[in-house]
Amino acid sequence: MDRLIVQGQRKLFGDVVISGAKNAALPILISSLLSSEKLVLTNVPKLFDIKTTEKLLHFLGVEIEKDKNSIELSAKTINHIDAPYDLVKTMRASILVLGPLLSRFSKARVSLPGGCAIGSRPVDIHIRGFEAMGAKINIDKGYINASTEHLPEGKLIGAKINMDQVTVTGTENLMMAATLARGETILENAAKEPEVIDLGNCLIKMGAKILGLGTKKITIIGVESLFGANHKVMFDRIEAGTYLVAAAMTGGEICCHGVESDKIEAILLKLKEAGAEIKIEDKKITIKSDGQLKAVNLTTSPYPGFPTDMQAQFMAMNTVAKGSSKVIEKIFENRFMHVQELIRMGANIDIKKNTAIIRGDDKLSGANVMATDLRASASLVLAALTAKGDTEIERIYHLDRGYEGLEKKFNQIGAKIKRVK
Ligand code: UD1
Repeated sequence: MDRLIVQGQRKLFGDVVISGAKNAALPILISSLLSSEKLVLTNVPKLFDIKTTEKLLHFLGVEIEKDKNSIELSAKTINHIDAPYDLVKTMRASILVLGPLLSRFSKARVSLPGGCAIGSRPVDIHIRGFEAMGAKINIDKGYINASTEHLPEGKLIGAKINMDQVTVTGTENLMMAATLARGETILENAAKEPEVIDLGNCLIKMGAKILGLGTKKITIIGVESLFGANHKVMFDRIEAGTYLVAAAMTGGEICCHGVESDKIEAILLKLKEAGAEIKIEDKKITIKSDGQLKAVNLTTSPYPGFPTDMQAQFMAMNTVAKGSSKVIEKIFENRFMHVQELIRMGANIDIKKNTAIIRGDDKLSGANVMATDLRASASLVLAALTAKGDTEIERIYHLDRGYEGLEKKFNQIGAKIKRVK
């Protein structure tokens, strides 16, 4: 299994080009299932989760052609309406095929994603939404079996759906399904994440009628069919945030290219509060820091609040910043897996339920640590970059799921990270 060896105490200087967003690319690739015509996508990041999605779509019958810069997907004919456990277990977002398959083919069978490292992450809100639209759903032997064959023309029926909790993939799944439903669907308490808007904009290019993207009430008026379209996937907010924090922690100056600052305001505000200097230009953000940061308190919440996917990276930053801080995780119940590993590197962190108290000013030292989930792994890389000595990070397949060319990009700005097979 691949490992990373990270040399500590290196300052970062230079330019980083931020890739397309994993969390936008996944639902957008899957939205190709909604049309018999070609969907052409650019700025799709080269990541393990993207490969898994392509594998799943290929299994379902989607034809996929790739060249250096674009991916063409054509779901003219479909061979399967089921997403098997082997494919779903490695990537929870596979649940997103349920909505498109059900609304276009009146039937879908998708394995329940099961638990994962950061909590139980149920899909009950997705299921209740499809039921409200008239689908018959039963769960049998770990699979969700959904059908609309009993409905007129086998189509979902528009409905008003009030989601108990803000869910990103839940909103995306129901929004995709509603594009081909009969009548109007209203999603109340919808997710406002930019990735949901990006998916919505792609669906609109395909002919969908969607209003209210980016607000908590999304209205979708069902249409007969969707067409082909071209779409450029938005930048990855979390990748950008991760490099910005890295530069702030290590001291140095980097410029992230291809980012829109208004989509990462919560992250930028916290970096400024910590004492970093930030300059915003068109699609560019430059960060400068002398590495002497002030610890910041934060609480994760749905967009536009502070993203849970940046919590671990800021925790790593707080361990080396001045003062004590409190990090409260409000989205996932078990998202402090990185804490034990940071403690192994010398961090001083106490956890009480969903709150971590970090006593900063620590000098971290290199150690052997284990990556546990995608963002936890990123926090270990950041800690390792500031630590004294080398850090060896195991199980880095988590990083390959979500960061395109991580060690290449870091090494270009002055880090020394080596991948060992
Ligand atoms: C997405 C992102 C993930 C991010 C998360 C929160 C993708 C592919 N992944 O995950 O990177 O960390 O949003 O911003 O976009 N919940 C339920 N029932 C449901 C659905 C969700 O109780 O049916 C709960 C979850 O357990 C969690 C909360 O709602 O506590 C938010 O989860 P959700 O927004 O659905 O996360 P994902 O869409 O899986």
